[in-house]
Amino acid sequence: MSKIKSAFFCQNCGYEAPKWLGKCPSCHEWNTFVEEIVEKQGKNVVAFSTDSRNSKPLLIQEVEQQQEERIATHDEEFNRVLGGGIVPGSIVLLGGDPGIGKSTLLLQLAISEKLKVLYVSGEESDRQIRMRADRLGLKNETCFLLTETNLQQIVLQAQELKPEMIIIDSIQTLFSSNIESSPGSISQVRECTAQLLRYAKQTSIPVFLIGHITKDGSIAGPKVLEHMVDAVLQFEGDRNHIYRLLRSIKNRFGSTNELGIYEMHGAGLRPVDNPSEILISNTDQNLSGVSIASTIEGLRPLLVEVQALVSSAAYGTPQRSSTGFDSKRLNMLLAVLEKRCGFKLGAKDVFLNIAGGIKVDDPAIDLAVAMAVLSSNADLPIPKTVAFAAEIGLSGEIRAVNRIEQRLSEVAKLGYEKVIISKYSKGVDFKKFNIEIVPCAKIEEVVKNVFA
Ligand code: TYD
Ligand code: MG
Repeated sequence: MSKIKSAFFCQNCGYEAPKWLGKCPSCHEWNTFVEEIVEKQGKNVVAFSTDSRNSKPLLIQEVEQQQEERIATHDEEFNRVLGGGIVPGSIVLLGGDPGIGKSTLLLQLAISEKLKVLYVSGEESDRQIRMRADRLGLKNETCFLLTETNLQQIVLQAQELKPEMIIIDSIQTLFSSNIESSPGSISQVRECTAQLLRYAKQTSIPVFLIGHITKDGSIAGPKVLEHMVDAVLQFEGDRNHIYRLLRSIKNRFGSTNELGIYEMHGAGLRPVDNPSEILISNTDQNLSGVSIASTIEGLRPLLVEVQALVSSAAYGTPQRSSTGFDSKRLNMLLAVLEKRCGFKLGAKDVFLNIAGGIKVDDPAIDLAVAMAVLSSNADLPIPKTVAFAAEIGLSGEIRAVNRIEQRLSEVAKLGYEKVIISKYSKGVDFKKFNIEIVPCAKIEEVVKNVFA
């Protein structure tokens, strides 16, 4: 008879405890423990068994070299984020907020490749998926749908069908009959992923898993899930805007600095080849409070438009609000402008927005933010031919940022005439770029140069 044991698992981080706890000792979250039945059966333990016949230590130079073959998809952005295509036998987890387009992205992948694909959905009916596929307007004669949540069934069907790629939507809906706890619980998610991982490695079939995301943005279920898979991709963006960013958080076969940019249309997701051109609004008017920053997202230079609105506070406490930019950083920049440069912003409402609904963490946007605020405050437009790329320090100094040459060439490529950078940027060959480069050390110098 098999021995049935139950344990308590933290639903946030996967910590296991023999009794219920109010606060998780590992991740310090409250009220996350749920009792789950852990059935210790022979079947379950196989994954970690030690009786493998052919495991022997080998000298590293004796290991057979394998030509790394990758399946290049039609979607260049997707290839790039994966590090050059899909690696056979890899297991990739795609996370993202609900409704951001995870199912759309992978269904699009399933029906745009000339591969035999098995698309398993535990969330939508096959008719719903068909409707979506019709909407995408693509056809793959060999894309099979399976609406099933039992993992054993899925593996059985896959063994029969022998697909070249498997997509699971989503890992939280699957359950393995080896384990008694409910779908979406830590032990189920972990067990299902382990079995799929084994299946992928044995058959060299790439498997894509869609994962739900918790309210603080991490992938729902245990962190162990992220450790088990080969790559973790995150799909993000503002649902009210059309742009979506595909980031790689972990990748065993490539760099995690890669970034894919998509637009969500009525007929699916479309890769964006030249994001800088799109993120900048092309009005003829010269408006105050708008500046252009040369930022780098992942490895890609990206010009973004910063919009600021400064007005006298209607009530006692001035409001500060920012979208797409860290509001603490905005407060810091405002304090620097007030204290070091003497601009009276203390009694002003300040609203900041990064156009296109994207989020920017790159510190090189600081100078553009400060200049947008000053431009709106004075109601003086910044000439449309000027871009900025520098960080601002607490004493108001303009600091150098990394990969400045890449930023400069992006600015030059898009036809700007002048770019303001830090005086302390090292190793820049100014002659190489066909634009006016203005190195500055203080914000006052920038103000004089731009508004003069
Ligand atoms: P979906 O892929 O279902 O999101 P997820 O699986 O991440 O929850 O995407 C749903 C959203 O995408 C939905 O709000 C509608 C929008 N959408 C489009 O704008 N165009 C399309 O062609 C499709 C299929 C969806
Ligand atoms: Mg979905």
